[in-house]
Amino acid sequence: MFMAGTTVCLAQVSWVVRAAARRASGGGGSRAATRRLLDGRRRSWRPESPAVRGPMQIHSARKATQQRAQRGSPARSTAMAASGEVKDIHTKESTKTLLKNEALYEYMLNTMVYPRENEHLRELRLITEQHDYGFMLSPPDEEQMLSMLLKVMGARNTIEVGVFTGGSVLATALAIPDDGKIVAIDVSREYFDIGRPVIEKAGVAHKVDFREGPALNILDDLLADEGNEGKFDFAFVDADKGNYGNYHEQLLRLVRVGGVLAYDNTLWGGSVAMPDDAPLTEGDREIRAAIRAFNAKIAADARVEAVQLPVADGITLCRRVV
Ligand SMILES: C[S@@+](CC[C@H](N)C(=O)[O-])C[C@H]1O[C@@H](n2cnc3c(N)ncnc32)[C@H](O)[C@@H]1O
Repeated sequence: MFMAGTTVCLAQVSWVVRAAARRASGGGGSRAATRRLLDGRRRSWRPESPAVRGPMQIHSARKATQQRAQRGSPARSTAMAASGEVKDIHTKESTKTLLKNEALYEYMLNTMVYPRENEHLRELRLITEQHDYGFMLSPPDEEQMLSMLLKVMGARNTIEVGVFTGGSVLATALAIPDDGKIVAIDVSREYFDIGRPVIEKAGVAHKVDFREGPALNILDDLLADEGNEGKFDFAFVDADKGNYGNYHEQLLRLVRVGGVLAYDNTLWGGSVAMPDDAPLTEGDREIRAAIRAFNAKIAADARVEAVQLPVADGITLCRRVV
């Protein structure tokens, strides 16, 4: 993630600068449409004030950089402490959520995430960050959480909807046993080919069954074989948000009772809780509507036990109970 520790700062900064230059030169003409299709990604920033002028873009490198500068810099924290502007952590009025600023996030990355990051995951992250759509990669703290979950569950067979360069696929492949398998689905083989050499170098390529095409069709193909019903332990969904509800119906048949379905980006940069008329871009407005509808569906779904995690851009875990 570009706002992370000093070890990756130069690569991150160069990517941010290039991306900003492209935008400034008007080079991003069709990016919004492409982004809607591909589905953008997290940045763990908090909702803007409604006073912000012009439409906000929920996930962009520039936005996160601005917010870090405005809110969470260590310098600002130090100044707050010096001026006596220090608040109780827990009060009747406060909400019990962490990650109140980017400095806290950087602290978490630097203490617990980067020092334990697998060398191949790190290599793939640095490569992906150079890509125009590098922001779509799952952040390393999310990969770490997925890895822990998969190991605790003893997951063997998994499905991934939305692979991109393969960050979460590699995290999964490293976490499941040697005879485990991931059915990894993406409309673009080109993206996967960027990360494939790293997955091979990590010695886990034999666990990845990459399938190119629209996920709805590929999941239908899997369902056509009765032997696949209830065969999978885990599914991770990180693709087009408008189809999350459809993927849920398909995956509930493919994942076993007791298995887990994980959905990414279910807080969409905090926009789900912003006023309806918050100044969002048209693309973010559409994705927010899709995510809100999906969250309402899951909240009312008695077939699963569900939990909303405020990790990364929001992850919803569903355990199939019937
Ligand atoms: C956010 S990225 C996935 C990131 C990945 N999980 C990771 O951790 O790095 C979303 C991916 O979903 C893919 N995608 C979008 N719509 C899709 C669809 N209908 N079927 C399959 N893949 C799709 C895009 O090509 C893109 O690579």
